[in-house]
This record gives sequence, C-alpha cells and structure tokens, in this order.
Amino acid sequence: MPSNAAPRQILVTSALPYANGSIHLGHMLEYIQTDIWVRFQKLRGNRCVYVCADDAHGSAIMLRAEKEGITPEQLIANVQAEHTADFADFLVDFDNYHSTHSDENRELSSLIYTRLKDAGHISTRSVTQYFDPEKQMFLADRFIKGTCPKCAAEDQYGDNCEKCGATYEPTDLKDPRSAISGATPVLRDSKHFFFRLQDFSDMLKQWTRSGALQESVANKIAEWLDSGLHEWDISRDAPYFGFEIPDEPGKYFYVWLDAPVGYMASFKNLCERRPDLSFDAFWGAESTAELYHFIGKDIINFHTLFWPAMLEGAGFRKPTAVNVHGYLTVNGQKMSKSRGTFIKARTYLEHLSPEYLRYYYAAKLSRGVEDMDLSLEDFVQKVNSDLVGKVVNIASRCAGFIHKGNGGVMVAANPAPELTDAFAAAVPGIADAYEKRDFSRAMRDIMALADKANAYIADKAPWSLNKQEGKQDEVQAICSLAINLFRQLVILLKPVLPILAADAEAFLNVPELKWDDHQTLLSDHQLNAFKPLLTRIEQAKIEAMVDASKEDLEASATDTGTETGAAAATGNGELTKEPIAGEIDFNSFAAVDLRIALIEKCEFVEGADKLLRLTLDIGDAKRNVFSGIKSAYPDPSKLEGRLTLYVANLAARKMKFGVSEGMVLAAGPGGEDIYLLSPDSGAKPGQRVK
Ligand code: 2FM
Ligand code: ZN
Repeated sequence: MPSNAAPRQILVTSALPYANGSIHLGHMLEYIQTDIWVRFQKLRGNRCVYVCADDAHGSAIMLRAEKEGITPEQLIANVQAEHTADFADFLVDFDNYHSTHSDENRELSSLIYTRLKDAGHISTRSVTQYFDPEKQMFLADRFIKGTCPKCAAEDQYGDNCEKCGATYEPTDLKDPRSAISGATPVLRDSKHFFFRLQDFSDMLKQWTRSGALQESVANKIAEWLDSGLHEWDISRDAPYFGFEIPDEPGKYFYVWLDAPVGYMASFKNLCERRPDLSFDAFWGAESTAELYHFIGKDIINFHTLFWPAMLEGAGFRKPTAVNVHGYLTVNGQKMSKSRGTFIKARTYLEHLSPEYLRYYYAAKLSRGVEDMDLSLEDFVQKVNSDLVGKVVNIASRCAGFIHKGNGGVMVAANPAPELTDAFAAAVPGIADAYEKRDFSRAMRDIMALADKANAYIADKAPWSLNKQEGKQDEVQAICSLAINLFRQLVILLKPVLPILAADAEAFLNVPELKWDDHQTLLSDHQLNAFKPLLTRIEQAKIEAMVDASKEDLEASATDTGTETGAAAATGNGELTKEPIAGEIDFNSFAAVDLRIALIEKCEFVEGADKLLRLTLDIGDAKRNVFSGIKSAYPDPSKLEGRLTLYVANLAARKMKFGVSEGMVLAAGPGGEDIYLLSPDSGAKPGQRVK
C-alpha cells in the first residue's frame, strides 16, 4: 500500500466453531491463517476488524446438553469459555468473539428471513419424515439406522450405505430405528419452510465468477449451478435448540440458517462498543468495505451459494471473497486419536509455544485448497532451523558485542548497503505474498533474507575481529547492521510471531513496530539487554504431547466409566457435521478385531489405583492388558478362568507400568458398577466376534 493511500476498511471472519467440542489443531489451521492475514492488514495501517463466534444451535448441542444433564445454555457457556481461552493462548486476536445464541443474531436472522419472505423467496410445504415416538422428535437422516435395502448390511445410516455405497431415502431402510432412543420410528407429516435458492441462480453464476472465489472452488460450484439449484429446507420442528421462526410457533431456523448471520451479529455486537464502526457501512448493500470469510473446504456450499443468496435477497452486501483452505493431516494421515495425533489446542499449549505452530502453518500455507500436512518431525526441524537457527541467532550472536563494546548503543554506520538494499527490494514481494495468503512464499522469502544476514555475519566474523587490535569500530558497525537486519526480519514476521515481535521491540527499545518501519534503520540507538527470544523445540516435548493426546482419549473413555471398546474404536479423527457424541461410522466399527479371550491371570498393579493386569489367552498367543476395572473387582483372582471380549487390533500402548496390548470390554457407569462382558457359553479363546 503506498503510504498516502486511504486505509482500507476490512471485515474478516473465520468459520464459527460448534459449541459442543474442543478446538483441535485442525481447527487452528484456519484461525491461525486468518489471524496472520488480519495482523498483516493491521500492521499495514488498514482498518481491519476480525470477528467470530461460537455456533451454538442445533440438535447435536441439544442432545449433548441433555446427556450431560445441563441446559444447552450452560453447555454453550462452558464451551465458549474453553474456546476463547484456546484462541487467546494461540494469539488469535479477535476484535470480537460472540455467540449465535445472542439477541443480535435472533434479530438479524429474523430480519433476513422476513425480508426474504416478503420478497417471495420463502415457500412452505409438507414433508414426511421419520419421527421418534419415544423422544417425540423428528429424526435427521444421520439419527436413523437400519439395514441397507440393497446389500442387507446392518447398521447403516438413513441416507447411504457405507458397505455398498448405495444412496437412498431413510424410508427405504429395512428395520429402521432411532439412533437416539433405539425406538422404531414412525412416519409423520410436518410443514417445512424453504428458501428458494433457485431464484438467485443468475446472480450466483455471476458472483462466483467475479473473483470472489479461488478458481478450483468456482469450478466446483459451477457443477452445482449447472445442474440446477433447488430450494433449501431452513426449518426444523421442536424440540430444537435455536431460534423460533417469527410467527411460526414450534418451527425453528435450521442451524445453518442462523450460523453465517452470526458473522453479522458478532460485528453488530462489536459496534456497540466501537463508535468508530458503523454496521451499515460494512453490511449495507452499497458498502465499499471489504468482507472476507475464511473457511474450510467442507462448508463451501453454505458460504458460496446459500449465504450470498440470503444476503442479496435481504438487501445486504455480498462477500468480497470466500477464502477456502484444505484439511490438516498429521504425519501424512488423518488425525487419529489412537496414534495421539488428534491433538487438542489445549494439549498442544500445555507442551509447546503457540508461535512454533503459527510459524510452521505459515511456512506451509498457500492460497490453494490442498490439504496441509503437519509432519511432527519436519515441524521440529523447521522451527529450530528457521526461527532459532536463522532469525533469533542474528540477534543473539551480535547483541553482546554492542553491549560490551559500546554500552548497548548501535552506531550509525552501514557497512553493507547492498544488503539493506536487498532487504528493501524484497519487501514488496513479501507484502504481496501476505496479501494473497501465500504465506509459504512470504516465509521462504523472509528466510532467504535471514540467510543473507547470517552469511554476512559469518563472513565478517565479528567474534574474530573483536580479538584484533583496532577493529572495534568495524565490529560495532557490523553488529549494528546485523541488529538492523534482525529488526527488519521481526517486522516482516510480526503477523506470524506477535510475542517474538513484542519481546524484540523490548530488546530493541522501540515502540510497536509497523510495516512501514522497514524503511528506516536504527542508528545512534540505545538497546536494552538481550534476553533469549525463542528456544529450540525439544523432541521430548513432542513425545509428551502425543502421549498426552492418547491420554485425552483414555480420559474420554473413563468419562463413560470404563475403558471399553467404544472409545477404542473411535480411532478416526474425522468428524461429521453435527456429530452425535461418541458416534462412529460402520467402517470404524467393522475395523475393530474383537476376539474371545480367556483371563488366565489377573493381578493388582503396584502403584496403580484403578488398574488390573490381565494375562489373556487368545488362542494362538498370550496378551498382557491393563484395564481400569479394579474398583469393580477388588479380588482379581475371581476373574481368572473367565472368558471375555478382547480388542485385538488396538495399537499397543506404553503405560507407566508396562505395555498394554489391546483392551478388554466392560460396561457400566464406573466405580463398583463395571461389568466385564462375557460371551455365551461354548465360546473358545481366539474366536473372532462377528
Ligand atoms: O462446520 C462448522 O463447524 C460450522 N459450525 C461452521 C459455521 S460457519 C458459519 F457459517 F457460521
Ligand atoms: Zn448396502
């Protein structure tokens, strides 16, 4: 941005996380990406506002609260407190973090709906759906299970078979049952409300090709647009946790109707505290402000079809762009609870600095929608080599000479103008890379500058010169230049590393650095004492984090009272939308290798409060298993000779007391009420359970 240009007015959002689960490193990819972009805009002097909120509505949240014995309001308040702490500790600096369960959102959602209705974009018709007579609620497809009408596989969802791939209507399922209560559902009619998306076909064809979307995203949307848009069901019947539709008692907005309105609501809520911001200036149809949504590729249709159409139909502006990113893999695979790579934000923070991950994500993020891999080995190597070995190293090698040799005062000389010129020449390209979200290019270019600075220092070797007579001035000139180059790197890295930048500002004894400060050099300037800015990542911390992530899994198993197969089978980190707590798909279940095992020996484990050590005969082999069932079996010898069910393909886990090779299955709420599962008589050790 030329320094005389008027600052841009920019509103930025990240997707609103559901208020029923913890933030993990997959989520963090998006919040870190957005935060870096926002910090870059602010550093450049633009007026940039970053808002977000918890996505608090829907049946999943209602059911989870019910299961926990609390109100949905309590649940969402608890989760919001956890989310905001996680974001703050990852240095994600929202201007406002709100909730979709808010007055502003209720008003704006109702306003948008009413405007759409008045303009003829809402229709109604009766829909026949399965209804759970026990829970007295309609069942979404994923809450219905039954036998596949094509291949007869049991336990399939209401809309598709994971065994044969067939898609069908829930009414086609054989032996349907409610996944919530187990009851046999009945068919029932109810009036539903629809948003006529097809009314916006022409506008969407134009808008999606206006530069608002990455090309691959626009191409994907074109497939949908070309095959014809259909009306979208925006209502759900009571009981539902959400907003009642105006003048339609017992009918609620579907969670995805009011979720994106949450972006507006969060901004509106902020406007009440920030008189410099005007809601209409950002959201009015004629707004000249920029509006960017950062999202993952799983929710493209909501943001590039439904949302712009809702905005257009209700007389608001449309997004300037929707920036889509891919998924995160860890060590080349989907995040996995059993491998300890399903890492919660809090678990990471308990072991490592947020800036390590911010830098690693920046170093790998580009403007595309490809998935990004967090390779833990590469993570350690890259952070240590780039941040510690290249950037911080410049200051730590040179500050001491200035303090010892010149009372901490940087001299005015510039002994290598070609170097400062090279830095100045690289800055516009780095700004361009940040602007385009091509952070990996920005980081590469910044590290290339750091390499140049280090090569210069190594070549001049001030540590050798310092030992020579009469070379003091040269040493001071070299080291002052090095500190100036370090300062330039800090400015360029500030959107990614805000704490490092603040600590460097303290050392440099300068006010908050802005982007344009790269145009100046410090001279005749007093430094403060140098304190180490970043330390190397120790491999042991990574291992501890992975182990703790495995323990998170164990803790969630203990939550349900036992160390049972349900949690063991939830090895796959991929979450479906609005998941039922603890739900697994059929493939995950089928992947569990269940065997009959004979408990040969059962004994106390010294130093363990909850565990028993079991020696199992599984037919062709013996297995050692630790199981948290001591409270229910105070006399372990009583279990000896008993048959039970054993998960044979669970990855072995190293515990304090030895290696546990798999799990035995038990049920019950915990304490004394734990019941080891047993097969019917006649079962033989080693037999597979079908
Ligand atoms: O997919 C999700 O996690 C949703 N909670 C995202 C909502 S984004 C916006 F539309 F609110
Ligand atoms: Zn099938």
